Amino acid sequence: MNLIQKKILRLGYNLVRLSKPYKKNNLTYSRVLPLAIYSPWYDDKIFQDTYKKIATKYTLVDEFRCFELWKLIEQTNKLDETAAVLEVGVWRGGTSVIMATKLKLLNSSSVVYAADTFEGVVKTSEKDASYRGGEHADTSLDLFFNLYTSLGLKNINTLKGIFPEQTASQVPTDTKFKLCHIDVDVYLSAKDVQDWIWDKLIIGGMILFDDYGFSSTNGITNFVNEQMLLNDRVILHNLNGHAVIIKIK
Ligand SMILES: C[S@@+](CC[C@H](N)C(=O)[O-])C[C@H]1O[C@@H](n2cnc3c(N)ncnc32)[C@H](O)[C@@H]1O
Repeated sequence: MNLIQKKILRLGYNLVRLSKPYKKNNLTYSRVLPLAIYSPWYDDKIFQDTYKKIATKYTLVDEFRCFELWKLIEQTNKLDETAAVLEVGVWRGGTSVIMATKLKLLNSSSVVYAADTFEGVVKTSEKDASYRGGEHADTSLDLFFNLYTSLGLKNINTLKGIFPEQTASQVPTDTKFKLCHIDVDVYLSAKDVQDWIWDKLIIGGMILFDDYGFSSTNGITNFVNEQMLLNDRVILHNLNGHAVIIKIK
């Protein structure tokens, strides 16, 4: 955001450059500005407090997507109060903390498996137009550990290394999952995570893709779009940039 945009924002306005639909890597983009105005995230004080603690330093994910994660923890907890949650793509831990805090508030016995190399993005391929590998390496295991322990969270199990190859063996083989947050930026990582979890996902369980709506992560958009016609799943495109896959069979 440049200086002029910031000044205008302080006056209560927003300066947005509208674009005509344009093509990039065979996908169509434009500035998405929904007309809807209902904003329940402002009514949820604990969400607001939690989000404020992570917003500036610990997450790359905006308030709208963090609130959807928060609500999907609440909703999927109805399916099974003990099934686990997996996040692959932790970076500094903001979204892991959002999910673990909500589970704690629900008195859920579920744990969050939080998987990351903590050394940046891996498995880039010709499917990804913008990523070269090693992005988001500006984090560490200690930074993440200090964040969630300072917030009193005891329901996070950290998996350091490439998931699933290097760390999935640390998850007990009979573990069932109700929600998986895939925030890995690139096609092959997303596919390998989904292939690993699909049979462990309970019916009604969901996979939430952070990167679906962004031009820098076209590999994720294509990976989700390839599944649109499979009849064992329902796929939703949320205009905040998320895609949600619900397992129905
Ligand atoms: C955009 S960041 C995650 C952002 C985070 N969810 C937040 O709250 O800001 C993407 C992360 O995915 C991780 N990553 C990508 N592929 C991975 C894989 N196969 N195994 C483990 N970590 C992976 C990278 O190391 C990076 O930290």
